[in-house]
Amino acid sequence: MSALSERVGGGAAVRIGVVGLRHGARHVAGFQATGGVARVNAVCDLDTARAATAVERVAGCRAVPWEDMLDPELVDAVVVSLPNDLHADYARAALEAGLHVVVEKPLCPSGVQARELAALAEERGLVLAALHDFRVEPAHWAARQLVLSGALGRVYAVRTRWLRRDNAPGGWYRDRDRAGGGVLLDLGTHRVDLALWMLGFPQVTTAHATTSRALLERRADGGDVEDTAIAYLELEGGVAVHAEFSFLGHLPRAEDVLLELRGTEGALRVANVGDSYRDYELTVFRGEGGVHEQTRYAQLPEAPSLYSDFAAAVATGAAPACPGEQAATVAELVDRLYTAANR
Ligand SMILES: NC(=O)c1ccc[n+]([C@@H]2O[C@H](COP(=O)([O-])OP(=O)(O)OC[C@H]3O[C@@H](n4cnc5c(N)ncnc54)[C@H](O)[C@@H]3O)[C@@H](O)[C@H]2O)c1
Repeated sequence: MSALSERVGGGAAVRIGVVGLRHGARHVAGFQATGGVARVNAVCDLDTARAATAVERVAGCRAVPWEDMLDPELVDAVVVSLPNDLHADYARAALEAGLHVVVEKPLCPSGVQARELAALAEERGLVLAALHDFRVEPAHWAARQLVLSGALGRVYAVRTRWLRRDNAPGGWYRDRDRAGGGVLLDLGTHRVDLALWMLGFPQVTTAHATTSRALLERRADGGDVEDTAIAYLELEGGVAVHAEFSFLGHLPRAEDVLLELRGTEGALRVANVGDSYRDYELTVFRGEGGVHEQTRYAQLPEAPSLYSDFAAAVATGAAPACPGEQAATVAELVDRLYTAANR
């Protein structure tokens, strides 16, 4: 038994450090809400005001320089919630310091770097996870349980999209060297991950994509990333996947997020509600001989918390909800789609 599992077995919390506190502030709150399973011991941000706010909110938490966070006496695990180009270096440094790591999506903007990280974690016997948070969104979680139960029969077609009418993030997100890509990487990573995860990560036999920056290039601050991406995948067994993503577009809805799976025994659809990308509904369809049945799930079963899940993985060595090696497979596929799009 490791010193960590002994400590946790004795009732101690898994000690977390969080680097990057803009979106990362959510992760501080998330770990603090695990009912004592985990606690945030240290935070780090170049923006000292953000670090001070986090420290004010969490009793016993310290703001530290990054080098000081790499101390197994201070933390057991690190959350990397930095701009994409920093993910690989920060995650690698933490793993090399003997710390478990969870990284915001995309695990890395390069598939090669992502695979190297997964291999390093494996070699060191450390947990590497990615924050593919849609997996534990209740409607998506319930959809996967349905697929696993066989309720859809053999799934032969998938459609997914995340179309935003006017929501292109700025700053480093528009700089390909820093972000690694545009909407395909930023929003597509989530949706491609869901499609593969629902089906148990089958081999991708064909990967085509077309990207466009027709709208961003008209803006003075448009940067050099794509605002639209359309992809077609074929999975082993002949499953067809159609995927579409946009930051901008003359679109009927401000926010349109969809996952549709069609199988031999039924189909399901997880769609966002209104203009929110946080609220989803799950509908199952069945029909034969002109009789069509449609069931909307009024009540969804509870999904796990990514934070408790990661802490449990760190404490017990169990696989986390989104293991680094699956996130690496997604990063490799996104690379492949960019190559197919000729960019
Ligand atoms: N899962 C999701 O839904 C979701 C949503 C938003 C962002 N993200 C991901 O989270 C990551 C962070 O995105 P963001 O929007 O918060 O970025 P951001 O640029 O808005 O914030 C990054 C934070 O990190 C700090 N920082 C930057 N460089 C640093 C360094 N070297 N050392 C310490 N602190 C540093 C900045 O001061 C800032 O507070 C990205 O990978 C992004 O893709 C995921």
